[in-house]
Amino acid sequence: MTKLFEETETYYASREFKKDASIFAADLYLDAKFGREKFWAKQAKHLDWIKPWHTILEWTPPDAKWFVGGTLNACYNCVDRHITGETRNKAAIIWEGERGDTRTLTYWDLYREVSKFANVLKSRGIKKGDTVAIYMPMIPEAIISMLACCRIGAIHTVVFGGFSADALNDRVQDSGAKLVITADGGFRKGNLIRLKDHCSHPSIVVKHAGCDVEMVEGKDLWYHELMQNASSDCPVEEMDAEDRLFILYTSGTTGKPKGIVHTTGGYMVGANRTTAWVFDLKPSDIYWCTADVGWITGHTYVVYGPLSNGATQLIYEGSPDYPQKDRFWKLIEKYGVTILYTAPTAIRTFMKWGTEWPAGCNLSSLRLLGSVGEPINPEAWLWYYTHIGQKKCPIVDTWWQTETGSIMIAPLPAHTPLKPGSATFTLPGIEADIIDNVLAITSPWPSMLRGIHNDPERFYSTYWQKWDGKYYYTSDGAKRDADGYFWLMGRVDDVMNISGHRIGTMEVESALVDYPQIAEAAVIGVEHAIKGQGIWAFVLLKDGVQVTDDLEATVKQHVCAKIGAIARPERIIFTRDLPKTRSGKIMRRLLRDIAEGRVLGDLTTLADSSIIQELKSQYDD
Ligand code: WTA
Repeated sequence: MTKLFEETETYYASREFKKDASIFAADLYLDAKFGREKFWAKQAKHLDWIKPWHTILEWTPPDAKWFVGGTLNACYNCVDRHITGETRNKAAIIWEGERGDTRTLTYWDLYREVSKFANVLKSRGIKKGDTVAIYMPMIPEAIISMLACCRIGAIHTVVFGGFSADALNDRVQDSGAKLVITADGGFRKGNLIRLKDHCSHPSIVVKHAGCDVEMVEGKDLWYHELMQNASSDCPVEEMDAEDRLFILYTSGTTGKPKGIVHTTGGYMVGANRTTAWVFDLKPSDIYWCTADVGWITGHTYVVYGPLSNGATQLIYEGSPDYPQKDRFWKLIEKYGVTILYTAPTAIRTFMKWGTEWPAGCNLSSLRLLGSVGEPINPEAWLWYYTHIGQKKCPIVDTWWQTETGSIMIAPLPAHTPLKPGSATFTLPGIEADIIDNVLAITSPWPSMLRGIHNDPERFYSTYWQKWDGKYYYTSDGAKRDADGYFWLMGRVDDVMNISGHRIGTMEVESALVDYPQIAEAAVIGVEHAIKGQGIWAFVLLKDGVQVTDDLEATVKQHVCAKIGAIARPERIIFTRDLPKTRSGKIMRRLLRDIAEGRVLGDLTTLADSSIIQELKSQYDD
């Protein structure tokens, strides 16, 4: 893999791209420079508010309130405001399933479906302020459910459909969700993924896969049956700008995933504006973000950003190599996709499959490409640029996090010269700096997280304590070059980035020690050509337990069952001990040195340095 910084050529948008730009980037930057708060207030007017705010920002670090006194509804902004004019009959969602089945929902269709389902939720006793969990495949009902929740002021917590029953249960418990909206199952690589089977809570079940499921009377209800007689007339709830919109769980350094809280006004402003800016969105675009709604990218850049802008978007449920390795390119050709937003891990997979797959399809409709989730190595950037973008599409490398709610560092495509591997500059209205080699956000922004559900202390200690409550600590290592470009270098905490998914080392360790024969475990993320990082687990078995042939496979399977297949370790290394300091702290840094073939660092703080030598020779063999 080529490393960051190694590629030095600069890429410019074509004259044609610049001429057609709908965003005047220079004006935005200038405007923001002359007063950040006023700038955001002006930008906020792109949304429809019920009552205007009286104060733009109340900032009592680390607590921010944006657009204080203002009221609005997120669903109204995504749906209702598009059904009066020309967008009424425009496609909002073009959906295609893995087996080729398709559905199109216009904004008017979406309005009816969302309103009906909002009434269904009400009839199940859900009201403003209640939390509802959503555990779904990538089907229109996932989006309808999210929007129906915010229509009536309920807070959604979406759980990625690839998570296990345990992971779902943890999130339902922690969030206090009253109900789970799920489906019988979904499809991936031709396989049926059962979802309802993982759900033991009261649920509303979408019939999608058509598989048999066990429905418990009085507890589980079918979506289609409830929808049959639901009215499509459901007024929107007036929400305070600071009322919660959703909770989304993400991994941190300790074992338990944290419920990141976002509120309505600021989040919607961030989602709406950054989508328009970074993708230079036009009414004629066919936009495709390949993320699942279970992640923040799916929240902001599948649901709230594109829909609040009245965009037409493609949604695909399934795998990029089904039935063949050109499925993405076939979809782009079929629907005339103009903007593609995907992850470096996907791009590296396509590279491995070979250029003949995209070359066999007509990709001329594309005009802009995006990347998100992890640093993009210049080699993958250039491949994406050449073979997908045909050297005419700018690439927007977008840096942000679940916590930031929307994109923070990215080029504006008609304006910013691109350097492969750099996310370039902060967006207008965003201020960042690098302190002690870590990226700091130095002033509040509208879509910032407002807290961790049920854990204000952790909110402070994770994000604010480091710089005395003044600056937001991102946990991302970063550098700036002589031209001021930001280069994001990966996490500096114990969070791994596996195929663009955040997984805590502690989460995997807890899953491992939950296995009856395992005494202790240390998990690290190791450089991986496709996934960015792969999971390696060093495992200490209980006394008297022998390593059998199938133990490694069984242990891997156990982790999948506890968390989900995304957390499957690449390697399990059985060891007689783990390298620890005298105070008992596991030194993961040394394990990483071994796994990535580096010279071992300082060993003096180790309680027993022989173990690390032993592991090294075991590995070198
Ligand atoms: C990483 C995903 C480099 C980073 C939106 C961050 C990136 C974590 C980029 C957040 C990028 C995301 N360049 N690194 N363009 N985008 N990251 O919360 O380490 O799932 O902290 O949000 O992904 O992951 P999360």
